[in-house]
Amino acid sequence: MLRPIATALGATKSNLKERTLMKIGSGIVLLLAFPLLFVPVTAVAKIGGGDVTYEPKGAGKVVFQHEYHVNLKGMKCNSCHYKTFQMRGGESQYKMDMATLTKGMFCGSCHDGKKAFAVKDAASCKHCHKE
Ligand code: HEC
Ligand code: HEC
Ligand code: HEC
Repeated sequence: MLRPIATALGATKSNLKERTLMKIGSGIVLLLAFPLLFVPVTAVAKIGGGDVTYEPKGAGKVVFQHEYHVNLKGMKCNSCHYKTFQMRGGESQYKMDMATLTKGMFCGSCHDGKKAFAVKDAASCKHCHKE
């Protein structure tokens, strides 16, 4: 009578072991899966203020990309905030148009033909203005 009990115990023990291993296994799977889920999410999360879209009258819309300026060009937030821009897109808080830009204000403080392509250069309109 002892033997079958022992086998039974052995069986449950190994079952337990298996189940524990499976638990650990799925735990590891979860741990491994999580960063995988996380990477795309953080990659999509917006950088700074994300994309800021302007829709000027008489020209194609302009999309300012934080991701490009901050990640690709390595700019710090304080290269623009709050010296040149407030952290508030959408409604205009200042008179931003081609006249002020060409005078070296706003985007024109960098897009002057030295630090970046010039706002007044006919070849560069299309870099900013899209249909
Ligand atoms: C090259 C210039 C530049 C840099 C660098 C920059 N920003 Fe901006 N940011 C802007 C402009 C332009 C706007 C829109 C301002 C406007 O239209 O009044 C803006 C707007 C914002 C907004 C408001 C967005 C909205 O839709 O209301 C936030 C938040 C912001 N920025 C955060 C950041 C942070 C955080 C960083 C650094 C990681 C950063 N910015 C770096 C230019 C910049
Ligand atoms: C660095 C980006 C940039 C470049 C390059 C650029 N623009 Fe603009 N442009 C803007 C922004 C930003 C506005 C203002 C958007 C707003 O606030 O509605 C604007 C506004 C305008 C407007 C609306 C009316 C006015 O005078 O403001 C016209 C027209 C215009 N641009 C034409 C041009 C032409 C033509 C060129 C090329 C010679 C050009 N832009 C190059 C960013 C740019
Ligand atoms: C602090 C400096 C700075 C300011 C302010 C700034 N930019 Fe730029 N931007 C750059 C630099 C540097 C580049 C790289 C361009 C180059 O290599 O000539 C760039 C590139 C770009 C590009 C090209 C992106 C591409 O995909 O090729 C666009 C569009 C642009 N900027 C739009 C804007 C607009 C619109 C504003 C204003 C709302 C603005 N930038 C303000 C520095 C700046």
